[in-house]
Amino acid sequence: MKKVLIEGEDYYLSDRGFRVFTEKYLLDRGYCCMSGCKHCPYGFNKLVDQIRKKVKPRTMTFQEEILQGIPSQLPPSALYDATINHAPKRKEILTDEEKTLALRNALRYFEPQHHATLIPEFKEELEKYGRIYMYRFRPKYRMYARDINEYPGKSLQAKAIQMMIQNNLDYAVAQHPHELITYGGNGAVFSNWAQYLLTMKYLAEMTDEQTLVMYSGHPMGLFPSHKNAPRVVVTNGMMIPNYSKPDDWEKFNALGVTQYGQMTAGSYMYIGPQGIVHGTTITVLNGFRKIGKEPKGNLFVTSGLGGMSGAQPKAGTIAGCITVCAEVNPKITKIRHNQGWIHEVIEDLDQLVNRVRKAQERKEVVSIAYLGNVVDVWEKFDQENLHIDLGSDQTSLHNPWAGGYYPVGISFEESNKMMADQPELFKEKVQETLRRHAAAINKHTAKGTYFFDYGNAFLLEASRAGADVMNPTPTLGREFKYPSYVQDIMGPMCFDYGFGPFRWVCASNNPEDLQKTDDIACAVLEEMIKTSPEEIQQQMKDNIQWIRGAQENKLVVGSQARILYADAEGRMKIAKAFNDAINDGKIGPVVLGRDHHDVSGTDSPYRETSNIYDGSRFTADMAIHNVIGDSFRGATWVSIHNGGGVGWGEVINGGFGMLLDGTNEAEQRLKSMLFWDVNNGISRRSWARNEGAVFAIKRAMEAEPLLKVTLPNIVDDNLLK
Ligand SMILES: NC(=O)c1ccc[n+]([C@@H]2O[C@H](COP(=O)([O-])OP(=O)(O)OC[C@H]3O[C@@H](n4cnc5c(N)ncnc54)[C@H](O)[C@@H]3O)[C@@H](O)[C@H]2O)c1
Repeated sequence: MKKVLIEGEDYYLSDRGFRVFTEKYLLDRGYCCMSGCKHCPYGFNKLVDQIRKKVKPRTMTFQEEILQGIPSQLPPSALYDATINHAPKRKEILTDEEKTLALRNALRYFEPQHHATLIPEFKEELEKYGRIYMYRFRPKYRMYARDINEYPGKSLQAKAIQMMIQNNLDYAVAQHPHELITYGGNGAVFSNWAQYLLTMKYLAEMTDEQTLVMYSGHPMGLFPSHKNAPRVVVTNGMMIPNYSKPDDWEKFNALGVTQYGQMTAGSYMYIGPQGIVHGTTITVLNGFRKIGKEPKGNLFVTSGLGGMSGAQPKAGTIAGCITVCAEVNPKITKIRHNQGWIHEVIEDLDQLVNRVRKAQERKEVVSIAYLGNVVDVWEKFDQENLHIDLGSDQTSLHNPWAGGYYPVGISFEESNKMMADQPELFKEKVQETLRRHAAAINKHTAKGTYFFDYGNAFLLEASRAGADVMNPTPTLGREFKYPSYVQDIMGPMCFDYGFGPFRWVCASNNPEDLQKTDDIACAVLEEMIKTSPEEIQQQMKDNIQWIRGAQENKLVVGSQARILYADAEGRMKIAKAFNDAINDGKIGPVVLGRDHHDVSGTDSPYRETSNIYDGSRFTADMAIHNVIGDSFRGATWVSIHNGGGVGWGEVINGGFGMLLDGTNEAEQRLKSMLFWDVNNGISRRSWARNEGAVFAIKRAMEAEPLLKVTLPNIVDDNLLK
């Protein structure tokens, strides 16, 4: 909360009418601003730029800092910390006039007396990094998900959201924590630190009669609502459709008026690498099932060891195959190796070939990182006739021109320089590489490799680069030579039946609570599988096995969170069992949520909804209905985003968070909202004539008489000839 300054106590007026702060005020403020205040208790000497007296400043408590919001006195400017992973310099896109507008926009957050100090600093940030992050305002407290009770506030729900936001910015979790990026290179929680500070303050002040409105990272403010309304409504990157090209993001994000929320970054629902490891394990397992092979001794080749893609080698190991994953960034490769997700790092292609042959002969379960460009791997394995069973790619092709995809034959450092200094040349090199990449994959698939697009816009960008990836006999929805993993694997095997990435976070942040929730969830699924129909037995089995081994896999990074795939019935039963356990005092409150990459949350024609073949792939009604429906059925917060996964303008996705506090009201909310949240998507998939979904929605209607869904009639194809 902004402190009201008292004349005579905090300051007095000088002869010339300037405010002079008293020593008491400066001590209470808790730090030296190094500007040489007249009554500086720290003895700061402006001439030598040093603090002489050793007065221990009174540090604010964590709660006081949150309640302070944007400090009325400027904190000392922050040094650029080169030891952590930073976002790449963004492309120079603003005109001089637009740069002035970006500055004017940024200064809106601060009192006018600070503008003269902040202008040169923000100007420098814009020049150097292409964005104004307001580094000076980065909080000094440690960023991590605390016990929910440590957060200040009048609303338990709002405290839960503070916890989830801090988890998304935890250094152990976030990809570029100082730039407020959680994953995917540009998946932002906020665009600058002023937005963070203001949002946390609003959450700490609000009651259950208010709703906080978030416009792409900017907290518009608190509006009166009611206790059954969401506490927060988030939109990210919502654009007028014609302004949704990649360069529009560059421009409007640099102006500070929108942001790329990815999926769970800007919706405060990221749970570290666990979500993606689980999803990738399910994909790799089902991928091998699809080609009728055991994972053991067989080879999976892919690339990317970043925020999400880094899960691939770990998932490959859990699934039990040989994984080769190429990565151009040495820093990231080292992180994954140290983490144990990569068993070996190889920098030489001949060595790589020999090592893989040995692993194939011995049927080893091993994950190998190739430090270099993935195109070199595909080409080399072709020359050496090394058989690849499963192939994919998870470079960040949703973001091809700003560091998501590196051209072959150019060093990592040179590429980083080129993308900022010569963006047109960089684009040419990327497209050339994509053509080579696709050509090498084509050679392998001709020899029997099964290749799938892994939701990173690989086929889309390759096609735009003129690569040979188009289906020679295209049908609606099968424009490319290769399927997306949703078309062949995730869609028909999981989403159509309502199985998707349900997750929860124990708000006590106590590992013992997580263990108890794992046990509860496992018991619920084991009970359910006894009467589950044949169609969903495999999914139930995979997830029971996952939850049994969840503690052993040690995938918790950041908050005490767990993920598994469940259908509507499973999600509701697990959530109800948690709520009962909270009511019984066995565990603390629990936050429910899910990835946006789910049955109903995301309309994305080349990914989540790529197995919709009635032509409605390019509509976004489902995701919009989902978020509206969730918001009035009891979600604690909802969010809807443009971009995420496959790129700005390519997808609309949404999600929710829901706090369970053990009350009857929470039970009502979970039943009403989770049922809708899954069955909305199944009904749409069923209307698109997807067989699994028709089965699942009929089953849901039998269980819930109030559900009445329009079912499709199937026409005899012969009549249409
Ligand atoms: N299928 C899914 O479920 C799913 C889930 C999340 C993300 N994604 C998508 O996957 C992609 C990757 O996400 P991320 O969070 O890991 O992004 P990221 O940017 O953190 O990682 C991508 C990595 O690829 C490396 N890379 C780029 N070009 C390369 C090349 N030619 N050769 C070798 N390495 C190269 C980069 O150095 C980077 O480390 C994104 O497009 C994302 O949207 C898919």
